[in-house]
Amino acid sequence: MKKILVTGGAGYIGSHTCVELLDSGYEVVIVDDLSNSELEPMKRIKALTGKSLSFHQVNILDKDALNAVFEKEGNIDAVIHFAALKAVGESVEQPLRYYHNNITGSLTLFEVMQDHAVSKIVFSSSATVYGDPETIPLTEKAPIQATNPYGQTKAMMEQILMDTGETYDWDVIILRYFNPVGAHPSGEIGEDPNYPNNLLPFVSQVAVGLREHVTIFGDDYDTPDGTGVRDYIHVVDLAKAHVKSLEKFATTDQETLVYNIGTGVGYSVKEMVETFREVSGKEIKTVTGPRRSGDIATCIADSSLANTDLKWTAEYDLKAMIESAWNWQSKYPNGYKG
Ligand code: UD1
Repeated sequence: MKKILVTGGAGYIGSHTCVELLDSGYEVVIVDDLSNSELEPMKRIKALTGKSLSFHQVNILDKDALNAVFEKEGNIDAVIHFAALKAVGESVEQPLRYYHNNITGSLTLFEVMQDHAVSKIVFSSSATVYGDPETIPLTEKAPIQATNPYGQTKAMMEQILMDTGETYDWDVIILRYFNPVGAHPSGEIGEDPNYPNNLLPFVSQVAVGLREHVTIFGDDYDTPDGTGVRDYIHVVDLAKAHVKSLEKFATTDQETLVYNIGTGVGYSVKEMVETFREVSGKEIKTVTGPRRSGDIATCIADSSLANTDLKWTAEYDLKAMIESAWNWQSKYPNGYKG
């Protein structure tokens, strides 16, 4: 059985990916410092899959501890690297912390991989590397022009992996996620609303009565209804793209492959709120506010390369995405805290 080391495996996308890996017959080793996540999802992953996994509470900046994990576990076939700080606004306020954690942390991980002859990696990147797109939909060939420290760290990590792949003959797959939403259909794991950052967790919290209203960040964009349009992708679809990436390693000898992971369909903030109202039957109050600094009008993926090359396609439509988010939020209004 192939053994996969997942950094950040206790987080939102990481935890869903671990479920898909275990369901697909992989052995899973998680490295997570729990700085932005909980231990609870570990128990739930085990309960959902009926499989065991190995968990190490380690920060990837701690080279000795990381080395010890690689030594103890032995025979790691590939790494999936999620562990990173991810809040755009915070990255503007604390650039050094972001560069240190994301870049130095990743370099430490890559060095430990090199020391242990582990040469396959799937890297968690983001559409944020494209910055303000010149053409929509975005293909993987669009220019890389991140506009904030968080996005810069993703772009830099991509470059480090491309150079490493070429020189040391690593197999690297970079997945650029569009806007991940939703939760596992069981409602047992999801995005912890204790750390909300993005639109849907805010809408969910209003629906469940934890917040009074959703602020629409600007309704004067050049979009059909004036609000921002994004390509929302279900987290389980996203998780499955990682399993497909591991399968791809067996059939390619290219050093670095890059894929956009989205649906190719965009929805506005107003459409998201309206669909959430329909699904939940709750009144969701909105207030229109000013644009959020750094936001763009429209971001939509061309994911045809992932469709053909990874044999991956998104299965959840918008309604199913929001139903799963609502199922999780209404079951656990305070997320993993109960
Ligand atoms: C954000 C990050 C991006 C990251 C992505 C996925 C920023 C600027 N970008 O993208 O780097 O890869 O999340 O985690 O933070 N909105 C509201 N009200 C809210 C929240 C959001 O109107 O309370 C709007 C935004 O203006 C945007 C849309 O909803 O039009 C989606 O926002 P969000 O979920 O924060 O994602 P992005 O900004 O697209």
